[in-house]
Amino acid sequence: MARRRVYSGWSAGIAPAVPSAAPGEFDLVAQMKVLRFLGYFVLVVIVAAASFAGYIAISGIATYTPEKVNLRVEVTPAKVERGRKYASMLCISCHLDPSTGTLTGKRLADVPASFGVAYSKNASACNDLQSL
Ligand code: HEC
Repeated sequence: MARRRVYSGWSAGIAPAVPSAAPGEFDLVAQMKVLRFLGYFVLVVIVAAASFAGYIAISGIATYTPEKVNLRVEVTPAKVERGRKYASMLCISCHLDPSTGTLTGKRLADVPASFGVAYSKNASACNDLQSL
């Protein structure tokens, strides 16, 4: 009768060596290593996110007092022409009122009714710019 081989290392605190899988075989040990690594990674991400949320909860959301912008724009014919070009490319589709021919704003007819009635603003007269 064959003798049963009994692993005797447990008492010494040594786990039995797990045979690694042959190439192409399902390698449970490698799979477990990957899963363990992913588990630690997710844990680190969760701890980092919770720490950040806790920091924001304790310190509060930062507030800043806006500074007055002192902007002086030198008006030259070249700049006005460039502005006209950009406005005609980017702005007139919404701001040009066909009845006045200026950027005084209009009703945006293609806004779906479920969003209500929308008007573009009068972009032709900015008090701040006129005071420059
Ligand atoms: C897709 C449509 C659309 C385009 C394109 C568009 N606007 Fe407007 N604009 C609006 C609407 C709508 C409002 C009004 C928003 C509101 O009442 O809250 C507005 C508001 C403004 C205002 C007033 C902002 C304020 O706080 O009172 C200015 C200035 C303006 N637009 C300038 C421009 C300029 C300059 C361009 C091109 C670079 C441009 N818009 C392109 C739709 C547009």
